[in-house]
Formats: sequence, C-alpha cells, structure tokens
Amino acid sequence: MKTKIKIAVIGCGVMGSALATHFSKETQVVLYDKNREKTVLLSTKLGCKSAKTAPEAIQSSDIVLLAIKPKDLHIFANATKEYFSKRQWLISILAATQLGLLEKTFPIPTIIRAVPNLPLICGKGIIGFVETAQTTKEQKEKITRLFHSLGLLTWLSEDHLNILSAFTGSGPAFIFLLIEALTEGGVFLGLSYQEALSFVLEVIEGSTALLKSTQEHPAILKTKISSPGGTTIAGLKVLEETGVRGILINALIATYQKAKEIQKNQQM
Ligand SMILES: NC(=O)c1ccc[n+]([C@@H]2O[C@H](COP(=O)([O-])OP(=O)(O)OC[C@H]3O[C@@H](n4cnc5c(N)ncnc54)[C@H](OP(=O)(O)O)[C@@H]3O)[C@@H](O)[C@H]2O)c1
Repeated sequence: MKTKIKIAVIGCGVMGSALATHFSKETQVVLYDKNREKTVLLSTKLGCKSAKTAPEAIQSSDIVLLAIKPKDLHIFANATKEYFSKRQWLISILAATQLGLLEKTFPIPTIIRAVPNLPLICGKGIIGFVETAQTTKEQKEKITRLFHSLGLLTWLSEDHLNILSAFTGSGPAFIFLLIEALTEGGVFLGLSYQEALSFVLEVIEGSTALLKSTQEHPAILKTKISSPGGTTIAGLKVLEETGVRGILINALIATYQKAKEIQKNQQM
C-alpha cells in the first residue's frame, strides 16, 4: 500500500533514477527531466507518472527531490521558483550546494540538503542530511520513513556534511579504482579477470567485516598479517615507497577543496 505523499523527482540521471526507484515502491512519484525520453523511459519502467514540464511536476507534489547537477541550479530555479508553495518540502541532493544558497534561491520554509552515495542502490549507502537549529523531530522522522532501507542515515552540521561528502559521494570512485588496480594485478599474475575480481571483492568484504567485528585499529590488523621477513611486508614496503598514504589523503583533500570551489562559484 503506497503512502499518500507525492514526490516529484527532478532529474532522472544516475542518482535521480536510483532514488525514484526507491520512492516509487512506497510513495506516489512524478518524474521530470529536461530530456523527455529519459523521463518517459524511467516512468514506464517504474510504473509512475511523468510530467511534461517542471512546474507540472512541482505543482502535483508534496515533496520535490532535486537531482540535477549544481551547474543547472540557477536555470532551473529561475524557471520554476514561482511554482513552489509554502507547504512543500524541497530536498536537494546537489553536491557542494550549501543550504544557505538553496534558501536564498527557493521561497519555501522547508529545505533539506542531503548528500547520498550510489551504494544506496543495494541498501548500503550513506545519506547525510544537514541538521540546523530549525530541524524538527517531525522532519527527521519523515526523512527516516522516506529514505529507510537505503543504508546509513545521518544528520550532521553542514561543515561536517561537506567533509562526509568527500568520503561518501566520491569515496566509492576511489574504491572502484583500487579494486580495478588489484584485479589487474591478479590478471598480470595469470588469473582471469573474473577470478581476480571475485577474489578482490571477497578480500575487501572480509577485511571490512573483520575490522567491524574486532573493532581493532587497522594498523593492528595489518601487523597481524605481516610476518617478519614475509610476503605481506614486502608488498607493504612497495606501497609505502610510493607514498600511498599521502596520495589517498591528498585525493580526499582535493575532493573537499573542489567542492568548496564549486560552492564559491555558485555564490558569485
Ligand atoms: N551520482 C552520484 O553518485 C552522486 C552522489 C552524490 C550527489 N550527487 C548529486 O546528485 C545530482 C545528480 O547527479 P547525477 O549523477 O544523477 O547526474 P546526472 O546523471 O547528470 O543526472 C542529472 C539529470 O538532470 C537533467 N537536468 C539538467 N537540467 C535539468 C533541468 N533544468 N530540469 C530537469 N532535469 C534537468 C540532466 O539532463 P542532461 O544530462 O540533458 O543535462 C540529467 O538527466 C548532482 O547534483 C550530484 O552532485 C550524485
């Protein structure tokens, strides 16, 4: 049985499609993307409504989930802000787009900024929400009902959300690169791509499970599998020589700084 809440999902790209798929199981969803073909394809797949224009989608919903790119925000807002009503909620998942800017842009009292990540597709996402002095218990409960079963939901100050998004929004891309490289190492040594990939995935899952279940520091677990003069320490030495720790830290900092740069440009 679907709830009576109507959600308009604006932007049917990667993240909009993933969230629309989730919402459409329990709520009434109306889709809009400026690309009509994308809108129709997804609405047919999900068996939900599609709108021909953004105002039509906005006016037929209680909640608007904005899933367009940050660069498209101003064009979208200029064309639609007069169609929002004060009772509506806007949930924005736009990367690097501060709550303050959204509040200046849209004339409605309830705007929630969220940062999701793609593993939500398999229920293993992390979705961070900005918590302010105005955030109410009712808002948190409603958000929990809407986003349940997608992974970990967490409320944070906006400063901390910006840091979280470097880990969670972009982090999966770093991990995929790591997986790709380790898999290619296996292929170089003679495994098939599929064999190597399945071993790498098991290693990552096993290592994560071990860390979680023992609650030990990663350095302790690393020491436990590095025998003196053995194979693991030989590989670790190579990693340390490349400065891998600094590289990973710098990658995260670069992601964070890029988000800051986007924020600055949006405010100009
Ligand atoms: N993908 C992720 O893992 C991830 C993680 C965290 C946050 N986010 C955020 O989620 C948002 C969407 O990301 P995405 O990866 O799903 O992007 P995407 O695949 O490019 O999807 C965005 C969609 O919005 C459409 N669009 C552009 N302007 C529009 C407008 N005025 N009205 C309606 N539709 C419009 C785009 O059409 P065109 O392609 O024709 O322009 C595209 O189909 C971004 O702000 C991103 O920062 C994404």
